Amino acid sequence: MRIGTSISTKKLDDACINEYKIPLILMMENAVLSAIKHLDINLYNNYIVVSGVGNNGGDGLGIARQLKARGKEVKVFIVGNIEKITPCSKTNLEILKAMNIPYIIIDTKDENINLLKKLEADIKNSHVLVDCIFGTGLEREIKGIFKDVINVINENKNLVYSIDVPSGINATTGEILGSCIKADKTISFEFYKRGFLKYETKKYVGNVVVEHIGIPEDILKKYDDNEYITSMNFVKDNIKDKNKFSFKSDFGKITIFAGSKGFSGAAFIASEAAIKSGSGLVTLVCDEDIQDIISSKLSEGMTANYKEEDRINKLIKTSNAIGFGCGMGDNETTLERLQYVLNNSDCPVVIDADGLNVLKNNISILKKYKNRIIITPHLGEMSRLTGKSISYIKGNRLDVAKEFAKENNIIVLLKGYETIITDGKVTYINPTGNSAMANGGMGDCLLGMITSFVSQGIEVFEAVICAVYIHGYIGDILSKKMYTVNATHIIEKIPSIMKKFNI
Ligand code: APR
Repeated sequence: MRIGTSISTKKLDDACINEYKIPLILMMENAVLSAIKHLDINLYNNYIVVSGVGNNGGDGLGIARQLKARGKEVKVFIVGNIEKITPCSKTNLEILKAMNIPYIIIDTKDENINLLKKLEADIKNSHVLVDCIFGTGLEREIKGIFKDVINVINENKNLVYSIDVPSGINATTGEILGSCIKADKTISFEFYKRGFLKYETKKYVGNVVVEHIGIPEDILKKYDDNEYITSMNFVKDNIKDKNKFSFKSDFGKITIFAGSKGFSGAAFIASEAAIKSGSGLVTLVCDEDIQDIISSKLSEGMTANYKEEDRINKLIKTSNAIGFGCGMGDNETTLERLQYVLNNSDCPVVIDADGLNVLKNNISILKKYKNRIIITPHLGEMSRLTGKSISYIKGNRLDVAKEFAKENNIIVLLKGYETIITDGKVTYINPTGNSAMANGGMGDCLLGMITSFVSQGIEVFEAVICAVYIHGYIGDILSKKMYTVNATHIIEKIPSIMKKFNI
């Protein structure tokens, strides 16, 4: 699913009109008919449509007409300076008049107390309110009568369905401009709006559906922002078949550097996740004093310790992917080991946890190994790496991740609610995962999965996206029946779920 901003939406509209000669009123009607599908007309009979005077308002007037044509009771309120109504909205208003559909104008110039009371009363007698006051054209703080109308709707609401965006959200930044409709569902057109990604907007957008409104694919490709939400089909398309003539070496040989005294669990989880994700050969490199304890648990994996220099050199040279950092300790030795691994390998290296901590004052290292480093920070690690505050990153996750990836020629996976995966040019947002998974070991599990996926011949960027999706997908399934989902629960499920994605 594509992600877009107000700017990309405007570009699409202009391209349709200018390059394909599609009149705006035609696209508006496509939007109307797409929206109707999501208004639950089989369940409800009484609708109120509240429109603005822009084109989002025009969508609303068309929706009112189509609801009426389907035998529904519809009342329409138009809020704003009616003299400024856009041409397509005006056309829809003329049709509304001709069809004798009742409408009330709440004009900016008038004394409106009585009209607000009427709106309140009508909301109470209706089932669903369709919000079309502002769409992607909202550009400044909402004040006066607009704010009053939004308050009346929020205070008296039954079900509210917002069209394209809940009125009050800046579709690009997610900023709430003074006041905002709290929607139960948002029916958005062509793009999942970038602003919806912001944590703070979740309570306003409700469930989001994105509908196509007939914009030609080549226009979408030309003007989209290369930002997408990962879909299940994307993952299915990328998980490889296990060819019956294959050997274990065909499914990826990987080395994981992880663990230290007191952190043997991290090393075990990362390695076991890699084994269960399908890598043909997995070797864990760890400190000698934890080697035995991990060996005894890691039935299908091998272990080596740092004293076995020749063996480690061979592993680094022959691995298809390397995972580095979980539970290694934030110290000079870890930094030296990371540099050694990077200098002597030529495969993709996935860096997490202490691997990232030791990089915080040594960022320039990353640039040297063009296009083969994947970093997997959470917000705190990203803050240490970039020197930016956690709250700043939270509010600007997409831009911070993209910028850092671009600057350093790496893949950045910024963990959290809706994990971001970006190489600086193309960005995917992961829709799976939940808070039941927020516990120790989950990141180690993800590192193991990513390293394994990367080793199995899937393109590196795609492999990272798929691993993140499946990791969260398993968590989502388990959390339906489990209050807490731990890394070991995820690991157990990896083979059967991967099979599901491979059918
Ligand atoms: N207060 C009052 N009026 C405002 C404010 C504000 N804070 N911000 C913008 N406006 C006015 C603009 O001047 C314009 O008249 O609201 C109108 C913009 O409303 P929209 O309908 O959001 O913008 P528009 O570009 O006309 O339409 C975009 O059309 O394709 C459909 O639904 C789709 O969201 C999309 C919408």
